[in-house]
Amino acid sequence: MSEAEINPVTVVRKRASRIWPEEISCVLISATHLKKRVRELARQIERDYTGRDLVIVALLKGTVLFLADLIRQLKLPLHLDFIGISSYREGVESKDLIVTKELRIEVKGRDVLIVDDILDTGRTMERVAEKIQRLKPRSLKTCVLLDKPSRRVTSVCADYTGFILPDAFVIGYGLDYAERYRNLPFIGVLRPHVYQKTR
Ligand code: IMP
Ligand code: MG
Repeated sequence: MSEAEINPVTVVRKRASRIWPEEISCVLISATHLKKRVRELARQIERDYTGRDLVIVALLKGTVLFLADLIRQLKLPLHLDFIGISSYREGVESKDLIVTKELRIEVKGRDVLIVDDILDTGRTMERVAEKIQRLKPRSLKTCVLLDKPSRRVTSVCADYTGFILPDAFVIGYGLDYAERYRNLPFIGVLRPHVYQKTR
C-alpha cells in the first residue's frame, strides 16, 4: 500500500466530536496525520521545483487550510494566486461549474502547480488545467490533498496526492458541506442522512 493510501479497515475511526455526533460519523484523518503528510508533500514539491519559477494556483475555497500549511513548509521562492470555481451542487453531486474569481498573475513561461482540496469526478481539475494550459505555462502539475479515484468520470490524475480515500463524503480541514465544517482541524466523514435530506 502506498504512503498516500488510507486503509479504511486499519484506520482508527475515532468519535468525531461531541459537538457533531449526529452529523459526523468518524475522524478519517486526524490533525496529526494531516500535518505529517503535508510535510512529506512539501518535501516532494521542494525536490521537484528547486531552481524553478514556481507559481501556485490554488482553488477557492476548499484549499485554504491545506494551502496555508503546505506553503509554510515550502522552503522555496514562489508566487501565489487563486482561481475561484464552484459548482451548483445537488446534495453531494457537482453540476455546472462557474468561475467566481479569475487568475490575475502572469503564468506564461512559468512552472505552475495547481492545488486543490479533493479530486472527485475530476471535472473541476480538468476544467482548470485546460484554462491554465491555454495561458502557456512552461510546465503544469497538480497537487491534491485527497483523491477519491472510484468517483472519477474524467482521465485526470494528480501529480502529488496526500491521501487516497474510499467513496465517502468528507468534511473538515477546508472542505465543506453547504459551507459548513471547513474549520474542523481533521477530515471527517459526514453521515449520509445530512446530505440526503437536502437532495
Ligand atoms: P470534482 O469536480 O467532482 O472533482 O469535485 C471537486 C470539488 O468538489 C472539490 O474541489 C470539492 O470542492 C468538492 N468535493 C468533492 N468531493 C467532496 C467531498 O467529499 N467533500 C467536500 N467537497 C467535495
Ligand atoms: Mg473545491
